[in-house]
Amino acid sequence: MSKDAIVLLKEDHQEVRKQFRAFRKQGQTPVQKQGIVDTILELLTVHTYIENEVMYPRVRQLLPDLEDDVLESYEEHHVADVLCMELAAMDATDERFDAKTTVLMENVEHHIEEEEQEWFPKVREGLGRNQLQELGEELLEAKKRAPRRPEQPSAMKKAIDAVVS
Ligand SMILES: [Fe+2]
Ligand SMILES: [Fe+2]
Repeated sequence: MSKDAIVLLKEDHQEVRKQFRAFRKQGQTPVQKQGIVDTILELLTVHTYIENEVMYPRVRQLLPDLEDDVLESYEEHHVADVLCMELAAMDATDERFDAKTTVLMENVEHHIEEEEQEWFPKVREGLGRNQLQELGEELLEAKKRAPRRPEQPSAMKKAIDAVVS
């Protein structure tokens, strides 16, 4: 039995939250923090890719009433993309590393909250079970080809598109 798209995306969100909690634990060395941030960047790069490439365009097409939410989400992803790219180029010993990670986490938490509390319920109401299952399949496929680091070309493309177009 395949997973429905919303279940799958929520599982991603849980993994991200788990890493955020790990980062916030007191008394960690820069090496430990670097490891957690590397994991966070990978999780976010993959998740952003599958939402940008599959979830958002499909929902926009199938449920035109949700277009404004989708557009807002693209902008929120863009802010996170920029922070991720900057963090990827930074070292955990940099004095701005913790602050930038904190701002990234706050942004992502806000966005995840909106998706889960406001957007997913509307999507679930608008799409049938079958469509959500099909979308889940597509998301899994997209995961296989997704970039894993923010500076990989297919990950950077979206961030750059958003700035220049
Ligand atoms: Fe999102
Ligand atoms: Fe999400």
